[in-house]
Amino acid sequence: MTDIHDNPLDAPDADPSAIAAEAAADIARLTGVEKHDIALTLGSGWGKAAELIGETVATIPATEVTGFSKPALEGHVGTLRSIRTPGGKNVLVIGARTHYYEGHGVRRVVHSVRTAAATGAKVMVLTNGAGGIRETWKPGQPVLISDHLNLTADSPLEGATFVDLTDLYSKRLREIARSIDPSLDEGVYTQFRGPHYETPAEVQMAKAIGGHIVGMSTALEAIAAREAGMEILGFSLITNLAAGIQQTPLSHGEVIEAGKAAEPVISALLARVVEAL
Ligand code: HPA
Repeated sequence: MTDIHDNPLDAPDADPSAIAAEAAADIARLTGVEKHDIALTLGSGWGKAAELIGETVATIPATEVTGFSKPALEGHVGTLRSIRTPGGKNVLVIGARTHYYEGHGVRRVVHSVRTAAATGAKVMVLTNGAGGIRETWKPGQPVLISDHLNLTADSPLEGATFVDLTDLYSKRLREIARSIDPSLDEGVYTQFRGPHYETPAEVQMAKAIGGHIVGMSTALEAIAAREAGMEILGFSLITNLAAGIQQTPLSHGEVIEAGKAAEPVISALLARVVEAL
């Protein structure tokens, strides 16, 4: 068991993949499920998907699992859940995201993803709530992530680890998602450090360099997932149009509200996609 002040990942000589293997052993012991097939990180607005995917076999507090931090934010449930789909797949649902802006280092940010890989998961589904740059998008709309711009100036990889990020957000998996909902649009996710929202000038910069979505998660996690050999599917819920695209100021309350309003629809979509993976 670890808490926010005492985490093995913080030791300078820690081996993150060995700690992820320990965490996976904790999950196997606490859930009774030896191996998971798919992992799912549920961001703002996506939480209800857990109920729709299948039968919950076990729910465990993330703080019981080696290396996990306490959630910093309301709306981010600190649990890990093992779910069995009607088709017989074991899905690990991660409701405990550590954000880069919390300042505990990138190892903690990607620990859940490395742990998911260590439980056996071959597919990592990353979801988030984010701002939309495309003016045609509406709050409450889910979009697929087609690629990313990592503006954190950081990486989860340590040492000379040269990982290929071509097709990082799997085209194959995006096609499966579109076979469930052909109206799904897609865009390039731009990860800023946060926790402040972007300035309108930063949003214009993101747009100029090819971004369509702005947020504070996912890109670093996707890199770690790829390093760990997983195939990645990314979804953003557009909770608001990005600063300066929408004319009103942004608020966390608005983001949470848009997430709640969209939750039933996007959760049902996600559950159908997971069954098709
Ligand atoms: N910017 C960054 N992160 C976000 C936003 C946004 O506009 N909305 C929800 N998360």
